[in-house]
Formats: sequence, structure tokens, C-alpha cells
Amino acid sequence: MTIDRKFIDSFILTTSRAAYGASLFKGKNDKIAADQAAVDEMRNMLNKINMKGKIVIGEGEMDEAPMLYINESVGTNEGLSLDIAVDPLEGTNFAAKNLPNALSVLAVAEKGNLLKAPDIYMEKIAIGPKLPKNLIDLDFDIKKNIELLSDAKNTTPNKLSACILKRPRHDKIINSLNEMGVSINFISDGDVSGVISVADSTKGNDIYIGIGGGPEGVLAAAALDCLGCQMQTRLYFQDEDEKKRAKSLGIENLDRKYNINDMVKDDVIFCATGVTSGDLVNGIKDLNDMFESETLVLHKSSNTNKKIRKKIKK
Ligand code: FBP
Repeated sequence: MTIDRKFIDSFILTTSRAAYGASLFKGKNDKIAADQAAVDEMRNMLNKINMKGKIVIGEGEMDEAPMLYINESVGTNEGLSLDIAVDPLEGTNFAAKNLPNALSVLAVAEKGNLLKAPDIYMEKIAIGPKLPKNLIDLDFDIKKNIELLSDAKNTTPNKLSACILKRPRHDKIINSLNEMGVSINFISDGDVSGVISVADSTKGNDIYIGIGGGPEGVLAAAALDCLGCQMQTRLYFQDEDEKKRAKSLGIENLDRKYNINDMVKDDVIFCATGVTSGDLVNGIKDLNDMFESETLVLHKSSNTNKKIRKKIKK
């Protein structure tokens, strides 16, 4: 089944309004307020869309998030049943400090077609398009993955670049990359756009590696699915409680490795609107009684891959 293109406009408006909400708190050093504003705007818009929507990735579980919690129903409760993964403000630090790359993001698929990932860490590895299928694997060591990738690209490891979140937990990976002479592009936050950067050869990242948020992993997988890239992930548990939470979302095999189509099945729409300008899109522009947004829009079945600018009434 495909999701009708007529939905695209409504979802662009949804991430645009959420990004606008967050933009009002740009540089105000209050990431909670910025996130809340994005959540309020996003929920308000989602509830206007003609659909039986369900949040499958959101702000948390019902007892910890008053809005856009996992399993919350959204939309007018008519028409198509859609599952929605949202990150109203991806990069709360970026927005609070007025730094590049804060985004408002969502992905939409038909009911049952998105992995319900708990809000825990996830191991991620991603590479760009037009490479042999199943080339890399989380169970291979870094050296093997890099060698496989450099061979497939007909080059040498020291000509490759890797994108990675700057965190102490990645020190071992970083050492291996250094030993092989791979260039590293560190990011301080925001691994949705970090992962997506492998899709565009002009961004200079041949591979994304590291541990980040599980929800962000599913959102990035939705984008990479539309862009013909490869990604593999595995949930990364820190304690028994996290395992319980995964089980309560229906995940039985906790050690499972997920390829893109284990996380995102069939058709999908992905929208990411800039709060602040960054690698993927420009941020919100204030135009007095209007604002302008820029949104990366991807739709798998119609092969849509566009940046859409919209002027919207405040
Ligand atoms: P927030 O927008 O919720 O602050 O998340 C930003 C982010 O950098 C994600 O992009 C990433 O997946 C995750 O946090 C990494 O988590 P941590 O900061 O705990 O390493």
C-alpha cells in the first residue's frame, strides 16, 4: 500500500509549525521550553489531519509525557490508519544555544510499519547509496567494516570519512578509525542529520558509526529508506528496566540486529524542518506576521526528495 501524496502538505505544515514554536526559544538557554513549544505546535497540527493516527515514537511513555506519548491517538479519527514517529525538537541543545542543526522531524507509515523503539540507546551504522547489499555489519569490527567499504568504493581507508557523535563511549571506535587514517567528522548532537549525511556524497561522510537515541535511529532509517542507503541498528540496553520497557513495546528478541526494512516497512513519508540553519535545511525566518520554513521532504513510493520552502501565517 502507498500513502497518498495528499498527506505530504499536512506533514510539512506539522514540522514547520513545530520548528516555528521551538524557534521562539532560540538562544534562550531553555531546552525544556523550546521542546515544549515544538510539542504543542506539532500536536495541534497533527490533530487537524484527516487520519486515524497513532504516535509510535514520541516524547516518552504515557506516564512520563503528557503529550505525544507512545500510543497517543492523533488526527480526526477518520480515514487511513497511520503510525507516526515524531521528534518535535531534535537537538534541544542546538535550539537552546542557537547553534546550527536543530530540526523538527517526523516519519509516517501505515499502521504496524514502523519499529516501536523505546527511548533508550541504539547502536547504529550507516552507509550511502549504490553499494553492495548487506556490505557492513554491527558484528564486524571497525577495521573490517572500513576495509569492506573502502574496497567497495575502490579506494583506501585513509580516503574515507566517518561521522560520529563526540562521546567518551565512542573512544574505542575513534581509536580504530585513527589507526586506519580515516578522517572523522565529529558532531556534538543531532545524529538524525548525522546519519542522513551519508546519503549525500557532497557532505563528505562515507559512514556513520556510533551509539545514539533509539527513536532518532528509526527516524533516520525512514529517511535512508527513501534515499536508497543502508543502515543497521541494535538496541543498547543499560539496565534491566530498559529491557522491560522494550518488551512492553513488543520487542521479544533484545539482541536483534535491524536492517532498514526491519524498522520501516512499505511506504513512508519523512519531513525535517530546520529550527536553526544547518547541514540539511535552513532554519525558520521571521517575516513579521508570517514565518518561512524549509523542509526536507522524502516520500518513498513517489520518489519525492525535495526541499520545500513555505511562508506560513504565525
Ligand atoms: P535531544 O534533542 O533530545 O537533546 O537529543 C539530541 C541527541 O544528540 C540525538 O540526536 C542523539 O541520538 C542523542 O541525543 C544522543 O544521546 P546522548 O546525548 O545521551 O549521547
